[in-house]
Amino acid sequence: MDLAQLTTEVRRIAMDAGRFLKEERKNFCLESVEKKHAHDYVSYVDKESEKQIVAALSALLPEAGFITEEGSATYRDEPYCWVVDPLDGTTNFIHDNAPYCVSIALRSKEELLLGVVYDPCRNECFYGWQGGGAYVDGRRMQVSAVGQMEDAFLVVELPYNSQQYARTGEHLIHNLYGKVGGIRMTGSAALAICYVAAGRFDAWAEAFIGKWDYSAAALLVQEAGGKVTDFYGGENFIEGHHIIATNGLLHQELQELICQAYPLGM
Ligand code: IPD
Ligand code: CA
Repeated sequence: MDLAQLTTEVRRIAMDAGRFLKEERKNFCLESVEKKHAHDYVSYVDKESEKQIVAALSALLPEAGFITEEGSATYRDEPYCWVVDPLDGTTNFIHDNAPYCVSIALRSKEELLLGVVYDPCRNECFYGWQGGGAYVDGRRMQVSAVGQMEDAFLVVELPYNSQQYARTGEHLIHNLYGKVGGIRMTGSAALAICYVAAGRFDAWAEAFIGKWDYSAAALLVQEAGGKVTDFYGGENFIEGHHIIATNGLLHQELQELICQAYPLGM
């Protein structure tokens, strides 16, 4: 499989879908929003974007299955699997806030093979493939060199699952606030992780996160010289839901701070 060539095709598909999102945003109204769960929204835009992406990726690699946020396609243990978020940052999108994006990863049973994340708001495409490096619009990405937690610029998203998360979320913010240079929440996990790959943020962490949110961008962090694990340091994170992505230098310290907030076995 020529991963570089395949990545070029996937960039085209992600950018087509991103342009669709931006176009639909122009006349979008709140009446089109449905609630999946408390605080978790969806609209025809997410669903239609997913339909278009699944059709295009199926034509590109018919032997691959799918794991998608809106669940319109299936994974039946095929040798390859596309992991797709057709609109990451839905809450931003419905409120006409940036950023939001399209995220597409390809994985084999064990590993991430390629990742593409397209942000139509800034017209930036982040992409990379296993062993081939990570890029933003043709420029090679490299994680930051910040090694001191007191200087670190972090993203810590708070997931929708507030019932389960509220107390540990409070602890996490409490453990980090005052110890780091700055904390942000972006509303798009996929883009926040890409920003770690690009050296714009030094680290990102989130609990209860979906594979479609992190898979593509996690590979880009690894290809840009950073580190990705689950909250407990496990490197086999691709089925996980509690993920940290850093520039590598801050990884252990951040992981320790997080483990103080999240008791093992949670
Ligand atoms: C969400 C965003 C958000 C993150 C949530 C995700 P969605 O995805 O990535 O930043 O905090 O955990 O579910 O719903 O906008 O596609
Ligand atoms: Ca998402």
